[in-house]
Amino acid sequence: MVELLYLACGAAFIVGLKRLGSPRTARSGNRLAGVGMLAAIVITLVSEDIVNWMTVGAGLAVGAALGAWFAIRVQMTSMPEMVAAFNGFGGIASAFVAAVAVIEADLDSIAAETSVSIIVSLIVGSVTFTGSFVAFAKLKGLLPGRPLLFPGNNVVNAALGAGMIGSAIWGAVEAEPTGYWIAAGLALVIGVLGTLAIGGGDMPVVISLLNSFSGVAAAAAGFAIESNALIIGGALVGAAGLILTVQMTEAMNRSLANVLLSGFGSGGGSGAGPGGDSGSGDKPVNRATADDVAIALRYATSVIIVPGYGLAVAQAQHALRDLTNALEEQGISVQYAIHPVAGRMPGHMNVLLAEADVPYELLLDLEQSNPKFHRTDVVLIVGANDVVNTSARDDSGSLIYGMPILTVDAAARVIVVKRSLSPGFAGIDNPLFYESKTQMFFADAKAALEDTLTALKSL
Ligand code: TAP
Repeated sequence: MVELLYLACGAAFIVGLKRLGSPRTARSGNRLAGVGMLAAIVITLVSEDIVNWMTVGAGLAVGAALGAWFAIRVQMTSMPEMVAAFNGFGGIASAFVAAVAVIEADLDSIAAETSVSIIVSLIVGSVTFTGSFVAFAKLKGLLPGRPLLFPGNNVVNAALGAGMIGSAIWGAVEAEPTGYWIAAGLALVIGVLGTLAIGGGDMPVVISLLNSFSGVAAAAAGFAIESNALIIGGALVGAAGLILTVQMTEAMNRSLANVLLSGFGSGGGSGAGPGGDSGSGDKPVNRATADDVAIALRYATSVIIVPGYGLAVAQAQHALRDLTNALEEQGISVQYAIHPVAGRMPGHMNVLLAEADVPYELLLDLEQSNPKFHRTDVVLIVGANDVVNTSARDDSGSLIYGMPILTVDAAARVIVVKRSLSPGFAGIDNPLFYESKTQMFFADAKAALEDTLTALKSL
């Protein structure tokens, strides 16, 4: 009966995960997976006679209150930090399960596969724990965003890794708990050093990878204590996290090794990016005012909005929606082109626009948008930069050459709203800004959109 119930929980995770694939069904998918997880926890606690109902109730109340408090208070721009912290807790939970198995098991007689599961859970869970909290601290600005490296960094990490594997093998072969503890301790250090060496801007990719690790640690813990629920849940998280990591790196046209080892995304720029190039200061640009933008939009028949990280920074999603509502009322067609890595986390723009009640059917992905631009009168870019950087397409020497972009320069007119010519995350200049058909409206996105709406109303 218990196994059947676990299977039902597993089905809830899978259907929930599937439903997360579309903004339309994501909320119900999230709820379904949450209910599955709650059921799995309660079934485990009760079926194993671990605690009584009072304790289960108290634990649920405290956990739910803390979770709700975090979820309600967190700003959309801080979501990656929250996910990092939750991953960290997931990792340490699995490491604790493995630690209890080390303490309670008769190490002399456990099967080899059980010791391997315990070791994997202990090591991967520990790396995930410290790695996630370093990622959290980098995103929160508690630690510097640049890669923190020291001389001989790689040699030290390799030595730590060898020591970790050696002590784990010693612990397993000699049935010696100390070997397990040393391995866990070294894994904690590796999590810190490995994540410190990566630039702050790449933290979303790292967090996605650590999310995958937390799943692997949970699945391994499931094998160690023979819990099917943990195995199913952990395997799903591990696989989903890995797929997301690969998708993010592909959309940035970078390899995972490049993200983990190159020190890219090392702070500076206007976002969390590496900075360095503050634009070609002496090249002329066409400047626009709110009145210019209002006129261009008012006399267009088709407008495509390209949102980017600056929209999130300025929290301008509601101002954007108010402006596009006004345009739609005038009979102007408005759609939104969403690049897969616009912003700083997967689905960042979708979530922001959903917050402002933008209908899903108006959102176009990269493949849908690019064929439409040449039939578009005005493309309004709001706080986006790298995702429309034409050097990714035209300049084989560019740092982001090969990254797929929204080909906005095919439209009749391009208007860019941002505060300056500063680069975005990738830290490189954007030739689009200097094109004759491009107009730059230098302002904070929220103020710019509000002023444009006021100007539009006065036309
Ligand atoms: P970015 O290239 O980072 O550009 C954002 C632009 O927003 C900046 O150039 C900045 O210019 C402007 N901005 C900032 N605050 C603003 C404000 N208050 N008002 C108006 N503009 C503001 O953003 P993007 O085009 O969305 O590209 C995302 C980048 O992040 C890509 O390089 C991607 O690879 C990387 N990345 C994405 C993810 C995911 S999963 N989405 C994860 C890691 C890295 P000013 O300072 O001049 O205003």
